[in-house]
Amino acid sequence: MRTRVWWEDSKEQHDYDLSDFRLLIVIAEDFDYVEMINIKKHWESWGATVDVAGTEPELFGHLWRLTEKGFDRSERKTIRTDLPVADVKIADYRAVLFPGGDSPKNLLETAGEKVTGLVKNALEKGLVVAAVSHGGAVLSATGIVAGRKVTGHKDIARNLTDAGAEYVHEVCVIDGNLITGNSPYFETMAVKVAEKLLYPKGGGPSEKSPFATNPVLKTIKDRRSVRRFLDKEVDSETVKTLLRAAAWAPSADNEQPWMFITVKDKAKKQNIMESFMNRMTEYYESHGIPMQNIRSFWSGIFDAPLLIFAFCDMRNIEIEQEGENIQIDWAVQAVTLACQNIMLAAKALNLGSLWMGLTVFIEDTIKQMLGVPDGMRLVTTLAIGYPILEPLPRPRRPIVDVSFDESWGERAE
Ligand SMILES: Cc1cc2nc3c(=O)[nH]c(=O)nc-3n(C[C@H](O)[C@H](O)[C@H](O)COP(=O)(O)O)c2cc1C
Repeated sequence: MRTRVWWEDSKEQHDYDLSDFRLLIVIAEDFDYVEMINIKKHWESWGATVDVAGTEPELFGHLWRLTEKGFDRSERKTIRTDLPVADVKIADYRAVLFPGGDSPKNLLETAGEKVTGLVKNALEKGLVVAAVSHGGAVLSATGIVAGRKVTGHKDIARNLTDAGAEYVHEVCVIDGNLITGNSPYFETMAVKVAEKLLYPKGGGPSEKSPFATNPVLKTIKDRRSVRRFLDKEVDSETVKTLLRAAAWAPSADNEQPWMFITVKDKAKKQNIMESFMNRMTEYYESHGIPMQNIRSFWSGIFDAPLLIFAFCDMRNIEIEQEGENIQIDWAVQAVTLACQNIMLAAKALNLGSLWMGLTVFIEDTIKQMLGVPDGMRLVTTLAIGYPILEPLPRPRRPIVDVSFDESWGERAE
């Protein structure tokens, strides 16, 4: 499997001087080892002293790995803690972190009063209080999240909102000295805590990144594949805007070989979905993928208020004897670029989008249902609508793995 990172490429990122800072991590049994160790390593690499306080002198954490079959969390790792939770003097530290896993639950069960007192005390003394993933459960138990904006694992969203917090599903949220984040965006967590300590008024290097400050780059980075949409119409002006964004795509000889059909009609979308599901049952079964959940997965997508079917008009393409596919390739490439423009324009207008690549399996049915003439090739279907939930970023291959300088195999340091 190719190496992937969660869009935070540490090889090209930040450097901080935390040598004057003592930071604390608080854990109990079955902590998320990967979260804990990654954040700790980042802080230590920037010179910080990091103490781990635990409910026991030795505690195990679980590891998880992204495998071909999904997440595997069977491996355990035991570590020695630096001091008991009961002995923590919070004034010795500048920040405190609660990692996730089952640790937060166990922490509250075995040392609840000490821990909630510690969190309140930390905030009063001006420490940065950070929690990642399930770690937010410790914060909701303290009563300090009321009126605060926070994130964390979806499992604890209810605890947080019941405690009066505004819950959002994001990589990392900063509200005053409270920093909450999600797994596996460890580097962001480590960076945001470091910057809160070094640049308390804001303006740290991560805020100056072109992907944070330039609206085009921010849109490119923040676009996600959205698969659940609100039942809210995309109005016709907005649809026109999306199609105009498509029209600004480049194309060979400015041919503009794209044709689009926008479909909002629920019955029509439903009919297409039924044909698609029939075909997909065959596809998923032949790939050994269990069918349960597949239907609800796809109905969420087909429920998008707007589907855009993107076709490539092949009727004017002259096929040459030599390099006969080039004209076809160029035409399809142009339609692909137009679709990317639609997805980016959608993001810029607070809409979500999805490239429904698998719909080409029922190209003939779609063409027949929509009355499309011969000579048109379905390039893709885009699902568009206002997102119910935008997924968090998926991992990207590091830049150093996908690029060379000047010639193949060469890398400038
Ligand atoms: C050519 C292509 C085909 C795709 N087909 C599907 C699809 O049939 N169903 C789906 O859910 N996502 C599909 N996707 C979306 C990818 O899964 C998604 O882009 C990728 O996982 C990265 O996630 P992101 O777009 O949120 O960054 C497709 C994307 C591309 C470019």
